[in-house]
Amino acid sequence: MRLVVSPDSESFSLAEPPPGFVDDPYPVYARLRATQPVCALGPGSWLLTRHADVLAAYRHPALGSDKREEFAPRLRVGTPIYEHHTTSLVFSDPPRHTRVRRLLMGALNQRAIARMEAPLVDLVATLLDRLADEPAPDLIEHVAAQIPVEVIGNLLAAPHAERGPLREWSLAILSALEPRPAPAVLARANAAVDEFCASLRTLVAERRRRPGDPEADVLTRLIQGDGEGELTEPELLHNCIFLLNAGHETTTNLIGNGVHALLVHRPQWERLRVEPGLIDRAVEELLRYESPLQLNNRQAREDVEFGGIPMPAGSFITLGIGAANRDPAVFADPDRLDIAREPNKHLAFGQGAHACSGMNVARLEGRLAIGALVARFPKLDLAGPPERDRRVRFRGFRRLPVRLG
Ligand code: HEM
Repeated sequence: MRLVVSPDSESFSLAEPPPGFVDDPYPVYARLRATQPVCALGPGSWLLTRHADVLAAYRHPALGSDKREEFAPRLRVGTPIYEHHTTSLVFSDPPRHTRVRRLLMGALNQRAIARMEAPLVDLVATLLDRLADEPAPDLIEHVAAQIPVEVIGNLLAAPHAERGPLREWSLAILSALEPRPAPAVLARANAAVDEFCASLRTLVAERRRRPGDPEADVLTRLIQGDGEGELTEPELLHNCIFLLNAGHETTTNLIGNGVHALLVHRPQWERLRVEPGLIDRAVEELLRYESPLQLNNRQAREDVEFGGIPMPAGSFITLGIGAANRDPAVFADPDRLDIAREPNKHLAFGQGAHACSGMNVARLEGRLAIGALVARFPKLDLAGPPERDRRVRFRGFRRLPVRLG
């Protein structure tokens, strides 16, 4: 896996990152950007850390998202987790990708998002009331993780009684995407896909009997299909799972990372308190500063070139979102958190054909949750050391103990 680019350059591996990387990857990314912006991770495998290169990769017509070849050795062909990750739209190319994306986007448009706002305001208020009664408030467990489960659960109109295991399933399935998942991680991921599918089959059968409103209910849209017919059962189930996962952990981490960043940069928290109108820009800056998803991947279908480095067809290319979002060529003083930053051309939601379908849902959740926390608990502070999630792809906290003041 390790490959040294040239005898005097440093080697870098995402599978075995240097000590301290998970806590703070940004100094390492800064060094890579400056010394080997197109960094060899192994034979035919590259990491891009410059904003310009990452953006060009997202938009490059010869880079595909189909992961069947890449995941075969890691996830094992025929396993539930392999089937899941190679069937969902994010890891597919046209025509399958185009079809599923169109179906999803029909229920994630501005009209649909506007309808989500009032119930979400109520949900956040209820969660903050409960937080006030918690003997040991944990911002992740009691707030950040609760909101996305409700939002995505509502999008699929999943019964509340069945939402309990969603977070654990989601964590297990996404953990299999780490550069080198351990056998126990894969076993948990396989079990989670099986359990998730079983629960969804019941939900799908019920929805077929009693369809919902396709304007708002994503599951009904996916079941009904389009002019080309219905999706296959694996396509239907795995895209539902993907939607739940995609909208869940990332948004939990936007809220958790965002509140943490504001608390450790107290003047920024204070500024948001006295200038609540900055909330939209603050959410963009928090997405840039601590991007919940730090890496994306592509495979070259033809010979390509990035940063002057030729890469033959078949090369694996890792897009360093977190690194690109701290690139001084695009962001003045990139390591400074500035909730009024504008413009802010961050890449936290990706770009191009696969750009995040739920970005405006995530923005709404971030705006309402973080805005309400600052307004309701102006003296909120850390109550102990946070517990960081130790993965390199997803950046966030498992626990964030707070005191409300
Ligand atoms: C802060 C929260 C979020 C972040 C940082 C985020 C980030 C991303 C990124 C970077 C991609 C691009 C993947 C690629 O190009 O390979 C993506 C795709 C996607 N996201 Fe999000 N996401 C978030 C929230 C959501 C939410 C709330 C939903 C659903 C309601 C969602 C649904 C999707 C879907 C369906 C895709 C696949 C799009 C495609 O392949 O065409 N995401 N997301």
